[in-house]
Amino acid sequence: MAQLMDGKAISEAVRKRIRQEIEALQEEQGITPGLAVVLVGEDSASEVYVKNKEKACEEVGISFELFRLSASITQQELEETICSLNEREDIDGILLQLPLPGKLDSDRVVSLIRPDKDVDAFHPENIGHIMRGDFFFLPCTPAGIMQMLRESGINPTGKRCVMVGRSDIVGKPMAMLLLHADATVTICHSKTENLAQICREADILVSAVGKAGFITSDMVCPGAVVIDVGMNRNAEGKLCGDVDFESVEPIASYITPVPGGVGPMTVAMLLQNTLVAAKRHGGITV
Ligand code: GUN
Repeated sequence: MAQLMDGKAISEAVRKRIRQEIEALQEEQGITPGLAVVLVGEDSASEVYVKNKEKACEEVGISFELFRLSASITQQELEETICSLNEREDIDGILLQLPLPGKLDSDRVVSLIRPDKDVDAFHPENIGHIMRGDFFFLPCTPAGIMQMLRESGINPTGKRCVMVGRSDIVGKPMAMLLLHADATVTICHSKTENLAQICREADILVSAVGKAGFITSDMVCPGAVVIDVGMNRNAEGKLCGDVDFESVEPIASYITPVPGGVGPMTVAMLLQNTLVAAKRHGGITV
């Protein structure tokens, strides 16, 4: 039976520390970190994610401002919104909730966010820093996973890690963080041949595919650490990850549940990045 990696509990401890740091920042420097979230259109999943971010910000003392824009907004109007937020002194972090509806070009919009306010770490300049390992903004989901591994006493050094999924948000930066931690990393994707066999070789298996029940027990080496980034609905409409929890949990050494695993850690890392942005804007070394 696997040990559960409790993202909810670990993220609570992180949020507590952030709240204390923000209290001190307010008392000693008069600084209140500010986060602006730009939400375009009415995607139901995005609505939930943004609500969670708002609640988490309130809890730790980050000033949260939501910019709700119509799906019919033009590229230029959206870009102007970002540029105006770049100028605002009271806003330390800008998050453009993805995906964008219709034909809006998210890459172009993201590249307009000032890199020192890019708390998602999606700007090409920040991606470059992540590649080099000299980043100040953590890629939120991968950083949350690294924190969970640390808290569980799992050291990726020298371990075989398999990342299933090659997205810009999770797969690629996750592989980089594991590489920076001296793991041996394989990235798998929809065109990978012998996927099950490669997954079976993993000491640490991370899945970010977006398909319920994708990772089955025959793809997992007994004793492996299994990290589930998926956020899906099963046939009954219940929230679930990529991993077939019932069959994999008995053979894994550690496993993240969905919900309550990686998700809360991602939000905690966003708070951390917003705090870092505010400190840097206040001239405080981080
Ligand atoms: N949509 C799904 N996950 C994320 C995320 O981490 N950041 C943003 N901006 N949009 C998302």
